[in-house]
Amino acid sequence: MENFVYHNPAKIIFGKDQISQVGAETAAIGKKALLLTGGASVKQNGVYDKVLASLDEACVTVVEQSGIVPNPVIESVREGAELCKNKNIEIVLAVGGGSVIDAAKAIAAGATYDGDPWDFFKRIAVPEKPLPVGTVLTLSATGSEANGNTVISNPETGEKRPFYHSTLFPRFSILDPALTFTVPKDQTANGAIDILSHVFEQYFHNVKATPLQDGIAETIMRTVIDNAPVAIKKPDDYDARANLMWSSTLALNGLLVSGARGDWASHMIGHELSAKYGLAHGAALAIVFPNWMKRVYKVNIAKFARFAVNVWGMDKSTDAEELALGGIEATNRFFKETLGAKVTLGEHSIDGSRIDEMAESAMSISSLGSLVTFKKSDLVKIYESCL
Ligand code: NZQ
Ligand code: ZN
Repeated sequence: MENFVYHNPAKIIFGKDQISQVGAETAAIGKKALLLTGGASVKQNGVYDKVLASLDEACVTVVEQSGIVPNPVIESVREGAELCKNKNIEIVLAVGGGSVIDAAKAIAAGATYDGDPWDFFKRIAVPEKPLPVGTVLTLSATGSEANGNTVISNPETGEKRPFYHSTLFPRFSILDPALTFTVPKDQTANGAIDILSHVFEQYFHNVKATPLQDGIAETIMRTVIDNAPVAIKKPDDYDARANLMWSSTLALNGLLVSGARGDWASHMIGHELSAKYGLAHGAALAIVFPNWMKRVYKVNIAKFARFAVNVWGMDKSTDAEELALGGIEATNRFFKETLGAKVTLGEHSIDGSRIDEMAESAMSISSLGSLVTFKKSDLVKIYESCL
């Protein structure tokens, strides 16, 4: 096992009707909040009204910014940061999925920075004392509710870039599973694929002696595989939604990577597809991950065979390579047949004309992959296998 520091300051308030806590939690940090939301969903499903009522009861003054889009854009971050500066905002409260939460973190950092918030994503600036962020999570997927990551797109440059900073963890996150009853089937599927992908990124490594991390990862994967189809068939199944929600948080809150190692090449490969073609994050990963697995499994056949046995219930007496390939195929089938995801670029009418550009851009900030470190030619082959 490798050395690590595990420090997760995000307070999680989980369960039925916990949305009513948002006012008190916010007021304990600041009395003037920027309330950040996405599109119409929170107004249609009543979440917005409940949040406002709770904030009102706690005497929190609210300034609003709505319209954060999936794959949130830097222009909204710039607007939000200006709003915070001009209105003396004390806390940014995100009510939504990963996109709203990521935008909130970037706004919170931009609010106390004199330059352009895109500088963080270019890795030429780090946040200094960002405003605190609180969240009310409405979609189980990214883990942004309990980590220091933010991922923002810049349509002017055609880039989508992640940024991590230890000061960007939400101070609190309200995880009320019933708020996800209205998540549509395709977004529920995308969320499940994202959660699984976060586990894959931190499970397929070459670090020895990590039985605890491996076992937790396998339990999260089985939990998602069991519960996502239930939530798709019966959107208001509380237990299925609750299990997906807690899986979302545990998959990317620093726990799995502690003592192990993250890969993250597939995420960077997928981000290019979102940046260039607007694919939803989970939709991109559904295509990339099985193809990444096929390209790298030989480096650690034993781990891929273990995945097939412990996650997909395959017979452990089978030949290791056959098991490894069987686990990859089971993953692909689960995405396609059980979750109804598209697993090729062709199904999205995307051809290979921008592969070279995407491969170049994916590696422009840092080298890609830790299980296997990719050259540009490897990325080109992965994109080609996705067609
Ligand atoms: O905009 P609204 O109307 O709210 O609709 C959203 C959006 O259209 C809808 N939705 C959310 N909650 C709902 C709901 N619809 C009905 N009922 C509800 N309760 O779902 C759509 C997608 O929302 P979005 O926030 O974009 O999805 P997700 O949570 O998957 O976030 C994706 C973003 O997070 C980034 C992705 O790259 C992408 O930009 N990621 C963030 C990470 C992090 N911070 O750690 C890690 C991830 O790997 C990922 O990169
Ligand atoms: Zn992800």
